[in-house]
Amino acid sequence: MNTDSVQADDAPVGIIGGTGLTGLEGLQMTGERDLDTPWGKPSAALQMGTLGARDVVFLARHGRPHRIPPHQVNYRANLWALHHAGVRTVVGVNAVGGIHHAMGPAHIVIPDQIIDYTWGRGHTFFEGELTEATHIDFTYPYSESARQVLLASANQLKLRHSGFGVYGATQGPRLETAAEVERLERDGCHILGMTGMPEAALAAELKLDYACLALVVNWAAGKSDHIITMTEIEAAIEQGMSGVRAILARSVTALGQPLVQSA
Ligand code: HPA
Repeated sequence: MNTDSVQADDAPVGIIGGTGLTGLEGLQMTGERDLDTPWGKPSAALQMGTLGARDVVFLARHGRPHRIPPHQVNYRANLWALHHAGVRTVVGVNAVGGIHHAMGPAHIVIPDQIIDYTWGRGHTFFEGELTEATHIDFTYPYSESARQVLLASANQLKLRHSGFGVYGATQGPRLETAAEVERLERDGCHILGMTGMPEAALAAELKLDYACLALVVNWAAGKSDHIITMTEIEAAIEQGMSGVRAILARSVTALGQPLVQSA
């Protein structure tokens, strides 16, 4: 492959911060954009700036302050706004519960698959007055190149992480019952979160490269000897979010860039 002809991508990288990541430390802000979209208002104003050498657009998924529950996030407006701001690669940061035995609190997961259990959310741009019905391919919901960049950073930083995992997207806002978690485990889910969908599918509809960077903040219901408390969740965020920030800071330059290959 001749890489000389491949243009470097200097488009800004989009970062959607979830629970525990309402702002992006280290972002040298150049401005804010309070957009209105054909799908309504995004969760918050877009924060534009630079992280290291890369332009970044940051969006707080649950608003600033953190107030919008997972089932009421306007995912369509959020993705549309990032696309409108010229973003081509998006990293969605998600707090999740762990099912897989290796994915306990403060573990970082870069999942490679999703199962969607959400309902009643605005989940597609392809509705209303259409000229033709459209069905996007969603076999591989996450961008493999973006995943590999995040994974390389996690490796270099020597953080406890997994480069695989099936993200079960649940409706919330309540957490699951122990029986639901057993069923989700039988389905093949390794982690559970409430915001992974429809975000990933909407990104795919807009042809954005999208990857998920998940921080486990609790054992899923029934997977430990205690019930889930906010204290436990806050402690895991405190322990693990600095690693997530470090991965983002190390990854933004390479995200969306062509992989360098020898001829
Ligand atoms: N289940 C679903 N979503 C979550 C969890 C969980 O245990 N923890 C954080 N988000």
